[in-house]
Amino acid sequence: MKHSKIAIIGAGSVGSTTAYALILKSIAAEIILIDIDEPRCHGEILDLSDALTFDGSSKIRSGSSADAAQADIIIIAAGRAQKPGETRRELLTTNKKIIADIFATIKPINPAAIIIMVTNPVDPLTALAQSISDLPIHQVFGTGTFLDTLRLRGHIAEKFNIARESIHAYIIGEHGDSQCVAWSSAEIAGTPITQFPDMHEKNFEAIAQKVKNIAYDIIACKGSTHFGIATCVAKICNAIVFDQKLIMPLSTYIKDYDVVFSMPVVVGENGIEKIIPIPLNDNERKNLELSAEQLKIVW
Ligand SMILES: NC(=O)c1ccc[n+]([C@@H]2O[C@H](COP(=O)([O-])OP(=O)(O)OC[C@H]3O[C@@H](n4cnc5c(N)ncnc54)[C@H](O)[C@@H]3O)[C@@H](O)[C@H]2O)c1
Repeated sequence: MKHSKIAIIGAGSVGSTTAYALILKSIAAEIILIDIDEPRCHGEILDLSDALTFDGSSKIRSGSSADAAQADIIIIAAGRAQKPGETRRELLTTNKKIIADIFATIKPINPAAIIIMVTNPVDPLTALAQSISDLPIHQVFGTGTFLDTLRLRGHIAEKFNIARESIHAYIIGEHGDSQCVAWSSAEIAGTPITQFPDMHEKNFEAIAQKVKNIAYDIIACKGSTHFGIATCVAKICNAIVFDQKLIMPLSTYIKDYDVVFSMPVVVGENGIEKIIPIPLNDNERKNLELSAEQLKIVW
């Protein structure tokens, strides 16, 4: 185990639930929680400390920018979340400033640190973090379409009554409205999903649309989403800490499209160790190019 001091900047719903997921899975030796709202941060630490009762392998405490800068993994979940009906891209102006302010305070950063961006819109903000962190870009990436991909696998799993882990399918591109499902490479036990008799074009579109709208549905009902993303972040940390070489779609610079968005990547102790160029048909490639164009306009 190489990395086990994990700093979480932003102790709101996403940051504190991520700390909880890390505690339950005993992934971090030490968790440092940081927020400009100090009473909230203090309260979250007291509450999370109660979750350590049955497993003393993690410690949790508040920290300074200097602590965060020297952590092995730095998770950034600070910033404004979507209001009902609001798109992720509408958060850019506010959250760009928050991310720039945070990076101004956490310098110099541990040269071996891995930074995981969670704040939305995650693709442009990962691009920002890659450009201002002074770290190699394989050490700075965003959660991207990992959560969308797990949601997609959940839908397919339900449709075929097969465990999610046995579904190989990816959502790539923007973590947002222009995301693309790579249907042509989706498979179950080596059989392309497109060849299953009850999978028609109509099903593909309906599933893709449903998955894309889940965040909007959750936010409309309860105001924010945090359990799913916290589980994803804990899974990424686990892949780093235990050098798992796990493949998941994360947000990073993709040279072929000259943009930061999601592709399947291999994650291990050095961060993103390889980008896997997923095979796409003409239509999917066109959609991915459109996703890249839209992100370039936003950025
Ligand atoms: N990538 C994903 O898949 C995904 C999923 C869910 C939410 N998110 C994003 O995560 C972010 C956080 O969402 P949330 O629901 O936890 O919001 P929240 O409002 O509950 O928490 C945000 C926290 O950030 C803190 N903060 C603001 N500026 C700060 C700064 N400069 N330094 C330290 N802390 C600061 C606030 O005080 C607050 O506690 C949002 O941008 C949201 O859109 C991303």
